[in-house]
Amino acid sequence: MAFSELFLQELAERNDIVDVVSSYVQLTKRSGSNLFGLCPFHSEKTPSFSVAPDKQIYHCFGCGKGGSVIGFIMEIENLSFPDAVAFLARRAGMAIPEQEDDPNAKKRERMLSLNREAARFFYEQLKAPSGAPAREYLQRRQLSGRTATNFGLGFAPDAWHSLTDAMKAKGFTERELFDAGLVRNRNGNVYDTFRNRLMFPVIDVRGNVIGFSGRILGDGEPKYMNSPETIVFSKSHNLFGLNLAKKSKMGFIILVEGNVDVASLHQAGFDCAVASLGTSLTPEQARLLSRYTNEIVIAYDGDNAGQKAAQRAIGLLEKLDMRVRVLRMEGAKDPDEYIKNFGADAFRNLLEGSENHIEYRLQSVQQKYDLKVDEQKVSYVKEAAGVIAQLPGSVEREVYAMRVAEQAGIPNTAVLDEIKRQRKNKLRTAQRELTRDQLRPIRQQEKRSGVRYENPHSAAAEEGVIRLLYLDSALFHSVQPPKPEQFSSPELRHIFTVLLEHAEQKRPVSLAALGETLSTQELQILTRIIQQDDASDRREQALADYINILSTDSLASEQTDLRAYAEKLKERKGYGGTK
Ligand code: CTP
Ligand code: MN
Repeated sequence: MAFSELFLQELAERNDIVDVVSSYVQLTKRSGSNLFGLCPFHSEKTPSFSVAPDKQIYHCFGCGKGGSVIGFIMEIENLSFPDAVAFLARRAGMAIPEQEDDPNAKKRERMLSLNREAARFFYEQLKAPSGAPAREYLQRRQLSGRTATNFGLGFAPDAWHSLTDAMKAKGFTERELFDAGLVRNRNGNVYDTFRNRLMFPVIDVRGNVIGFSGRILGDGEPKYMNSPETIVFSKSHNLFGLNLAKKSKMGFIILVEGNVDVASLHQAGFDCAVASLGTSLTPEQARLLSRYTNEIVIAYDGDNAGQKAAQRAIGLLEKLDMRVRVLRMEGAKDPDEYIKNFGADAFRNLLEGSENHIEYRLQSVQQKYDLKVDEQKVSYVKEAAGVIAQLPGSVEREVYAMRVAEQAGIPNTAVLDEIKRQRKNKLRTAQRELTRDQLRPIRQQEKRSGVRYENPHSAAAEEGVIRLLYLDSALFHSVQPPKPEQFSSPELRHIFTVLLEHAEQKRPVSLAALGETLSTQELQILTRIIQQDDASDRREQALADYINILSTDSLASEQTDLRAYAEKLKERKGYGGTK
């Protein structure tokens, strides 16, 4: 799926960074050739987010984010590189070269455009005079017109062929409608799957309409009808509302059961709600969530089924190292009802006071046992101690131990002893893992911490060389370039090598075109380096100085390398204490 540099370059040229950024950020201030606005990636009151039209890059002086127009779309739309490329291609009306040779890709494309057209049709029907029953239903459920637009809600008319006819007129075949699950076929009679229903398009994180969920207007069975699994739709791999929630600034994601819950939460200002499409949370959905947040608030229905599903979800999410909280709603069966009964502020309070998962789990453990029976009491304490043993802080452990002791009517020390015993066991396992960890190459650690210079003098020189290589590669035709080994981190070394290759082959270079060759972190580093301006009239002298500094410093640093390595190992051995 590699894109050619030529294609990426054209893509970037046809998507001017100022235009693209302007549809997300108001660029108000001008300073030199740069435009400034409030950074969309962190909260701030004075603009430190800059766009350089001449270099076609953005860079935030506050949070350090930066890159090309592709990088910007990746970041703000939360897309992978190929998806961001597709996004911008669509924006500029360009075809994506690679997709043509894959027959499956073509079929998928076709089904996605059918779904998009169908969603548009349903949406129009909702606004049409005949959509009155659906509009009344929305009103009854207190969902506004804005919410309907935000989610692209629609109405499937009470007729057998309305969608079929409309889609055929657009050039789609019955077969294609059938494959997408939009029509059914009974003994050769083809009819619309969704009739007289409020339609929720399911939109994936790339903005594709992948399927539908249709609710009956009022009572009746089945309450919901969903698209079947197709080549573009898998219920277990997607979440309703994630296309919107991924852009939320709330910092966590609220997981609910129903589509209507999602819609009314968003309407009440909680734009981070998603639902798991009528299934209980799957491992794939959990992984998908972990790409966008590390904190989940579960707000499932209060009934038994909902609470069981919550338990399962907690297990899946914790495995992925996510923080999980559980909301307990009194006086309402689900978030939609809760907000209707008590208002958005009450829900916000609930969110703020929501139990962390330990509390929730302790309560669930307790419900399993009858504490009046001695044997059950013992099992309760053991299991509860297991839950508490996972807490990292000793004060926290003591607080919860006290609570368990009180409930079981035994001394605190008995519970604490049990916790200590279980922690010892856990520690032993952890230590085994730590030893294994130490055998992993050191490079992985470097990568996470970004560039770290031992020597600031040489740092400026390394960055200077890279900046000139990017901005004015012709300078390098007449000098002996430095060696990759003279750069102090693997990232800088790699950036340098790639740029030098371009210079040697006299190939033009742009940040956008490097999007696949360099890692996200490397692109960020490169952006930071090139946005600093060099005095353009003294470039040759500057380059000579940089090269000079590098050749003197690299001799010295070779000797410190080994020492640094030894230090790092020592540091790591110190980690994992038994506190
Ligand atoms: N669901 C489904 N098929 C059904 C019932 C439910 O696929 N027959 C899915 C839907 O995605 C629904 C979710 O399970 O949104 C939760 O179901 P439920 O709690 O019954 O629905 P609510 O969203 O609360 O629906 P409403 O408030 O409209 O009654
Ligand atoms: Mn409901």
